Amino acid sequence: MCGIVGFAGTRQAAPILLDGLEKLEYRGYDSAGLAIEGDGEILVKKQKGRLRVLREATHNGEDLPGVVGIGHTRWATHGEPSDVNSHPHLSYNGEVCIVHNGIIENYIELRNFLISKGYEFASDTDTEVISQLMDYYYHGDPTEAVEQARSHLMGSYALGILFRQTPDRIYAICKDNPLIIGIGEGENFMASDVTAILKYTRRVFRLSEGELAVLTRDGVTVTDSYGEPIEKEITNVTWDENAAEKGGYEHFMIKEILEQPEVIRKTASPRIVNGTINLSLKSISDEDIRGIDKIYIVACGSAYHVGCVAKPILSKLCRLPVFVELASEFKYSDPMVDNKTLTIVISQSGETLDTYHALKEAASRGSRIISVVNVVGSTIAMVSEDVLFTWAGPEIAVATTKAYSAQLIVMYMLAMYMGRVRGVATEADEKELIRQLEALPDAVEAILEKKEQVQYLASLFYSSKDIFFLGRNIDYALALEGSLKLKEISYIHSEAYAAGELKHGTISLIEQGSLVVALCTYKPLKEKLVSNIKEVVARGAVVIALANEGDTNIEAVADHVIELPEWEELTMPSLAIIPLQLFAYYVASLKGCDIDKPRNLAKSVTVE
Ligand code: BG6
Repeated sequence: MCGIVGFAGTRQAAPILLDGLEKLEYRGYDSAGLAIEGDGEILVKKQKGRLRVLREATHNGEDLPGVVGIGHTRWATHGEPSDVNSHPHLSYNGEVCIVHNGIIENYIELRNFLISKGYEFASDTDTEVISQLMDYYYHGDPTEAVEQARSHLMGSYALGILFRQTPDRIYAICKDNPLIIGIGEGENFMASDVTAILKYTRRVFRLSEGELAVLTRDGVTVTDSYGEPIEKEITNVTWDENAAEKGGYEHFMIKEILEQPEVIRKTASPRIVNGTINLSLKSISDEDIRGIDKIYIVACGSAYHVGCVAKPILSKLCRLPVFVELASEFKYSDPMVDNKTLTIVISQSGETLDTYHALKEAASRGSRIISVVNVVGSTIAMVSEDVLFTWAGPEIAVATTKAYSAQLIVMYMLAMYMGRVRGVATEADEKELIRQLEALPDAVEAILEKKEQVQYLASLFYSSKDIFFLGRNIDYALALEGSLKLKEISYIHSEAYAAGELKHGTISLIEQGSLVVALCTYKPLKEKLVSNIKEVVARGAVVIALANEGDTNIEAVADHVIELPEWEELTMPSLAIIPLQLFAYYVASLKGCDIDKPRNLAKSVTVE
């Protein structure tokens, strides 16, 4: 996810664009850049690093004269963060300049076509392909060039476009990515979201797929996909600037929880090609995968919990021993790692030092390395021989939610891919996983729509002093994450316990009124959970159970039941985690905690 802005008016554009980009940094902050229509040329200034680097390089934009321009703040997806991969991207001859939010899925095909026509490329990005493609179709008519190029683009985009020969205007189009047009007095704006322009105007409309907007200081014209002019209804934004940055939500965490259906879709769908899972591993071959004799998963915090969920799945689909280790322990445990070991390193930030050290330890012993990372260009991504990116976009809340869910998706797909390569998983297994992955976003959406039930339960229990999360097998792995989420943001002490283990000691802590969250989604052991619930109820506990809808045995013994839809075991964790995230969020919210920035925590801990 990136942020784009545009301005056409009578004031100097650069300082206004920088202001707008500052409001969009939460959408990505690997690099930033500006392009300003100058006297017969387009001036481009772009830098790797946070926006302040660009501010300093342009003296807060003062160095860039001109009253029409576009700007970009980047979240790298194709091409590591670098000056040359930063946006805006200028066509080779300086005629066309683009800022882009989105992913062009067929950019390699388009790039090869353009190379065959003599084009050369400076960057590794999909965006540069767009600017060159528009140049290819540009014979003096910008609209023609935009429409011709658009017809070949597959994927998602929100584009701000400058043409050197029409210095008074900006062209804007979008597909599956937001693009807001702002109407000012003698000046007009475009942006990825309203935050960027709220300081200048509250009169906006959203551009739709197929439409083309042309912005000048005097006005904005919009044409439909037939080229016919259309009138867009202008609305007046009432949000305050801070709320808008979170898309109108009170916290980034709830915004990110609600983004999960889209994140699951974005992480899975590009890896489903012609009905099979395609991971495009660059270094580790199918032969290497067949030669693996054990798997280690190393990570910290929630990423470690993803490993705990993935362990039984990998073991079953690959018929291999799987060891999940806390990264901070792994390095000092003299691990049984050699060149027949695959070490899977999971990290949202790609900067957690414990995890980085664990990676280096495994590699030093000859292990093959695949990392699952959300931040392109991060340290762990850069040193891994293969990386599977989670396309969750920037995750701002310290307590991870959408990245956790995206990591689960990648692990399901990696386990299935390896299982197929090793001849253990069947084609039918693969097709069934793909069916589930394609149905997951809607299933998650349906659970999110019932979030008020979880909010109600949170209102009953937010003053609890201790909370126990119980589960068996994969439900135990989920209990670990549910407990951590709650601890991280509500500061309530909680423990996750293997339900079968509770009676061997910790049950001594259960007393009248103790709150127990029992996860009962793993069907083969559901009846065992009924007994475990009875054990704790007999000692005074109050039980919230997560169960499959219609499970009367659980309903008979639990005080409250959060129902989950009938769903296959393999990807059920992606559904069961949602109520646990929501419960933690609402409890913390009712306690008035600083949800996005909990005390003592950091989004990424880069110390041992
Ligand atoms: C911790 C965070 O510092 O790091 C956790 O509080 C996170 O939420 C853990 O899961 C691992 O971070 P990462 O970036 O390596 O996934």
